[in-house]
Amino acid sequence: MLRSLFSALACALAVSSMNPAMAADPVIIKFSHVVADQTPKGQGALLFKKLVEERLPGKVKVEVYPNSSLFGDGKEMEALLLGDVQMIAPSLAKFEQYTKSVQLFDLPFLFNDINAVDRFQLSPQGQGLLKSMESKNITGLAYWHNGMKQLSANKPLRVPADARGLKFRVQASAVLEEQFKAVRANPRKMSFAEVYQGLQTGVVNGAENPYSNIYSQKMHEVQKYITESNHGVLDYMLITNTKFWNGLPPDVRSELDKIVVEVTTHVNKEAQQLNEGDKQRILAAKTTEIITLTPEERGQWRDAMKPVWKKFEGEIGAELISAAEAANQAQ
Ligand code: LMR
Repeated sequence: MLRSLFSALACALAVSSMNPAMAADPVIIKFSHVVADQTPKGQGALLFKKLVEERLPGKVKVEVYPNSSLFGDGKEMEALLLGDVQMIAPSLAKFEQYTKSVQLFDLPFLFNDINAVDRFQLSPQGQGLLKSMESKNITGLAYWHNGMKQLSANKPLRVPADARGLKFRVQASAVLEEQFKAVRANPRKMSFAEVYQGLQTGVVNGAENPYSNIYSQKMHEVQKYITESNHGVLDYMLITNTKFWNGLPPDVRSELDKIVVEVTTHVNKEAQQLNEGDKQRILAAKTTEIITLTPEERGQWRDAMKPVWKKFEGEIGAELISAAEAANQAQ
């Protein structure tokens, strides 16, 4: 009797050690994004994977899917909400269906430079926006920089009148549509994965992006001119599914929180240099002339585009806009 009990127990133990489902499976975090690995966001995703797998071995596994290889624009947010991916970092232009306040970041000529963007993002108002979509099951974990946007086209753009009648690709953002309408150009919403071909085939004549996106997607090969306009910002919100994040074991979640802070510091420190390097690589490729605006010419773009603010003030909130403007003054 004792012997058969003992052998039944030994047998059960052997079976359980063979059955992987009995051992705690690692949590899988699928991180999907639309850009190349060598961009600020691409690098951030890979660093996140590296640190998580070093510090939470066997507990969490991160799978990174770059270049729209799993989900492209328009589908990635839905995938996050359905639990098909656990982390994404859409550009701040891609949130208008979920919150109107984040449209703030698309207002042309709002921030003088990326340091002002940084100050606003770290302010109570900026941090508040990270939590503004929790009722929709979206938690903002951090802001990641890409950088300031430059205009590109197949003709030189020095003053707003040069853009008149041209078709510009825009992200899915009503503010960006209005920004191009303000200079009498024709905006056309298009997902990121389609931009190169759109420019190559002439479906659109121009676009706006930081140097890192232009270079990594080879857009410079199909754009003869880039105007260094720094007219707006392209940054990201690193987001997760609120229920997923809150359901993680507390020790795992707090380690992930620490890693997010570390990766964010790294991405935001390196982004500007990465963009500058890509600007130099575009110059070296000799495909594209980079136009530097005089202060007077840049002023003309500002004057033409700034009326867009008024159109969105009601949706975004005048106080939020003032807080962002205040970030232009270094403390
Ligand atoms: C774009 O669509 O131009 C960008 O949002 C792509 C990205 O994620 O940087």
